[in-house]
Amino acid sequence: MITNETLKVIKQRRSTRSFKEEQIKGEEMQAILEAGMYAPNAGNQAWHFTVIQNKKLLEKLNLAAKQGAQQMDIEHLRELGNDKEFNCLYHAPTLIIVSGDEKAFVPLEADCAAATQNLLLAAESIGGGLLDFLRPISV
Ligand SMILES: Cc1cc2nc3c(=O)[nH]c(=O)nc-3n(C[C@H](O)[C@H](O)[C@H](O)COP(=O)(O)O)c2cc1C
Repeated sequence: MITNETLKVIKQRRSTRSFKEEQIKGEEMQAILEAGMYAPNAGNQAWHFTVIQNKKLLEKLNLAAKQGAQQMDIEHLRELGNDKEFNCLYHAPTLIIVSGDEKAFVPLEADCAAATQNLLLAAESIGGGLLDFLRPISV
């Protein structure tokens, strides 16, 4: 079977739900974001990457997401939203929000998903679990 470094990283990547407290290095972050920018896009690169490392802001986002989950139709998500112990960012020290311009004339979700996958694979190739669980959202 053919194998190489790229195929190894793709197969090795798994969702991480437990994180080291230490922060990712600036040059590692830069390399990951750059990989995201090299993703295919349907015409106008209408996405944005927002990196959040401020602990207080991450906690605010966790609480806001949980409040949202409490209103959802899916019982499992409501339960997580009401679980005081649950942190939907799994205490990751870094969050990258992939967002896009709603007015983009192309299907933005596909662009964001492609960029997200590049970010995930780059993160895996650099830190193997330093950061993970990135979700595309529209703003
Ligand atoms: C659109 C999307 C949303 C996801 N949402 C969550 C989530 O809310 N919480 C979570 O822990 N994992 C989430 N995941 C990760 C999936 O659970 C995970 O990718 C899947 O179980 C396969 O496992 P793997 O990533 O380790 O291969 C999400 C993945 C995608 C693509």
